[in-house]
Amino acid sequence: MKVFKTIHQLREHLSPLRSQTKIGLVPTMGALHQGHISLVEESKKKSQLTVASIFVNPTQFNNPEDLKKYPKTLESDLAKLSEAGCDIAFVPDDPEIYPTKPEIKIDLGPITTELEGKFRPGHFNGVGLVVSKLFHIVQPNLAFFGQKDLQQFYVIKKLVTELNFPVELHMVTTQREANGLAMSSRNMRLSADEIKEASILYKALKTSQNMLLAQGDIEEVKAQVQELFSQSERLELEYFEVIDTSSFKPLLKVKDSRKTAMCIAAEIGGVRLIDNLLLNS
Ligand code: PAF
Repeated sequence: MKVFKTIHQLREHLSPLRSQTKIGLVPTMGALHQGHISLVEESKKKSQLTVASIFVNPTQFNNPEDLKKYPKTLESDLAKLSEAGCDIAFVPDDPEIYPTKPEIKIDLGPITTELEGKFRPGHFNGVGLVVSKLFHIVQPNLAFFGQKDLQQFYVIKKLVTELNFPVELHMVTTQREANGLAMSSRNMRLSADEIKEASILYKALKTSQNMLLAQGDIEEVKAQVQELFSQSERLELEYFEVIDTSSFKPLLKVKDSRKTAMCIAAEIGGVRLIDNLLLNS
């Protein structure tokens, strides 16, 4: 696996390959786990050359403490990527991506102020900016993102449509621990007991999926989720919503099950966890 730190080196390397090679991009912020590796595997199936980027993007953190605490494990990340058969790791530092404080603002509208956008103001503007930069730098044919960040996927889909990026987007299903907890770099900050308790997020999603598929109403489902969370002392529910994936607006009634998802966020021991399930999954 080749490792490049600068945009110039990466472009020099990719430029002669472009015309005959389908390039797949897996953007990451490092602290890699099986979820990221599954993105690399998917890219390897669909592209001829896989580039994974590792960059902890400061502009998408609304909370400076969260940015400071974000795990950094570059050595083991590179070993995992190499073992997964990734062709290129792009590992720029902050000044490489942001040589000056960015003045440009990317705002993808109302979808960015629902759910995660409400709890993390400005988060999706930062994601939109860095993903635009990565698409310009790598110019991939395909790009791979995890379903765990469902709203992020739809925001990026809008970015690709509005800015005409010639990139085919792929969403890869969430990888889970044995107890159902969605894999996340943030799980590294949880104790064994917290990991056990955090399985309530998945339980809540599965319960709500079963209730909705049996024509249960959304208010009843929400009450049931509250009940599940009341059994945990440490886990604090931030939101649970049944949403339409085209807008991410909370629904009062399921209209089109193919466009419906249940999204949840909770905090435990100062760590924010999110998860979701598509109703028809
Ligand atoms: O999902 C992530 O890890 C990040 O939001 C992304 C897409 C790499 C942009 O920084």
